[in-house]
Amino acid sequence: MRLTGLGHASVLIETAHGSIVTDPWVNPAYLGSWFPFPDNSQLDWDAIGQADYLFVSHLHRDHFDAEHLRRHIRKDITVLLPNYPTSQLEDELRDIGFRTFVKPESEEVVDLDGLQIMIQSLISPTDGPIGDSSLWVHDGTSRLLNQNDARPSELSAFTELGPIDAYLVQFSGAIWFPMVYELPTRAKQALGKTKRDRQFDRTLRYIEEAGARFVFPTAGPPCFLDEELWGFNDIFGDESNIFPDQQVYLAWLREHRHDEGRLLLPGSVAEITDPECRVQHPVDPATIFGDKTAYLRDYQARRMPEVEVAKKSWAHPEVDVVASIKEWFTPLLEEAEHMAAGIDGGVRFTAEDAERGDIDLVLDFVAREVREYAGEKVRYRFRTRRAYLEKLVAEHEIDWVNSLYLSCRFSAQRIGPYNEFVYTFFKCLSEERLNYAEGWYTEQNAAEAKEMIELDGWQVQSRCPHLKADLRRFGRIEDGVLTCQMHGWKWRLGDGKCLTSVGHDLRSAPLSDERSRP
Ligand code: FES
Repeated sequence: MRLTGLGHASVLIETAHGSIVTDPWVNPAYLGSWFPFPDNSQLDWDAIGQADYLFVSHLHRDHFDAEHLRRHIRKDITVLLPNYPTSQLEDELRDIGFRTFVKPESEEVVDLDGLQIMIQSLISPTDGPIGDSSLWVHDGTSRLLNQNDARPSELSAFTELGPIDAYLVQFSGAIWFPMVYELPTRAKQALGKTKRDRQFDRTLRYIEEAGARFVFPTAGPPCFLDEELWGFNDIFGDESNIFPDQQVYLAWLREHRHDEGRLLLPGSVAEITDPECRVQHPVDPATIFGDKTAYLRDYQARRMPEVEVAKKSWAHPEVDVVASIKEWFTPLLEEAEHMAAGIDGGVRFTAEDAERGDIDLVLDFVAREVREYAGEKVRYRFRTRRAYLEKLVAEHEIDWVNSLYLSCRFSAQRIGPYNEFVYTFFKCLSEERLNYAEGWYTEQNAAEAKEMIELDGWQVQSRCPHLKADLRRFGRIEDGVLTCQMHGWKWRLGDGKCLTSVGHDLRSAPLSDERSRP
């Protein structure tokens, strides 16, 4: 087995039974904020795009680069697809032109003509943009686990399959915390230092559990080439920076008595079957890490002009942002039972523009309404530029985590601790996603999961077996058949059988019948 680094979370895995390219990402992501580090645009992507298989772990834009996939990956490639409850990843890949998919159940080992693969799909609302995944590969000689930025609670599903030879894991930050928080510098530094230490400690726990012969730190860090974000690069000797690079991490790993770490640059080639796993680099690593500031300045000169051009298209003065957000968010707020209870207050969102004036809104999770800010006290506050908000609204961006928040082009304040529900709401700005997340939270509560409702003379489970839409709202019964109007799936109520898809049966019983099928 041969492993070639392609930058960030992207690698080419070559075996005697076929090759896999994972998560190819080259174009700046998140409002032009993130770039792969080191630069990987010089690789021969057309040749790489001829691989046998493509694996896209999830929809975060530093893993799913639609433009790059469209241009450089052959469309008759076989896509190894994580089994997520929502179809968005598959839909977007199909839109690009991919047609051949292998979609195993999570943790099912599949044999592809001698190449065994297993994908573990994580599906909680906090995993990626509703889903993140790891890929395990066995070619008969070596086993590789590409965990990228997934966070499984344990690795036993992989370690039970035999000793791991190559383990690819994220070590650097991929979040906006704490940099965007409006806090005194000292407090922010302390939080950043704790975060950086925790990231490294977490990898050590994973590495010790995986017990792999060799470890490749991947899936980060990004670099920030926009002058406004330049300070986020780890070039100032600041131990509270959450984006340490591969060299820094490998040195830390050695200090912790682990010498199995290997550096993988874009174009580096590692022979996993080599007992020493020597890595051949395309350039001397010192040309990148020796004077990292100079390296980034060169990179900035090459790549930033394209972002500067794109930025000019972000403002949409023709969009009535307040009216659009009210119309868009109000039904979502009404449905967001668990999130509203979890937030239990107002979220203020200010989009600033010195010339055209600010937009200042409150999302009130108690009254379940959007209104203009009128001086009330709120627990959470976001501040960004008006042009960024206009872009999100004009494009009807349903995931502001996967666009604005990861861009770090905003600032935040909060009273009290981190509230997962705030960010989950902003990544679920469509009825489908919101219902999925609400259903997920419902199922976390065993009592609620058993909840049955009465509908037109029948007793049925409250949540749709497909993607957990609330059947009180989406269920319609006609001639003994229940239709969930979220995606139109149907169930025969007499025996609960799903008429649209295999599995997914429904608990149902006539109201006169005391018994409810388990
Ligand atoms: S959520 Fe898809 S059919 Fe009900």
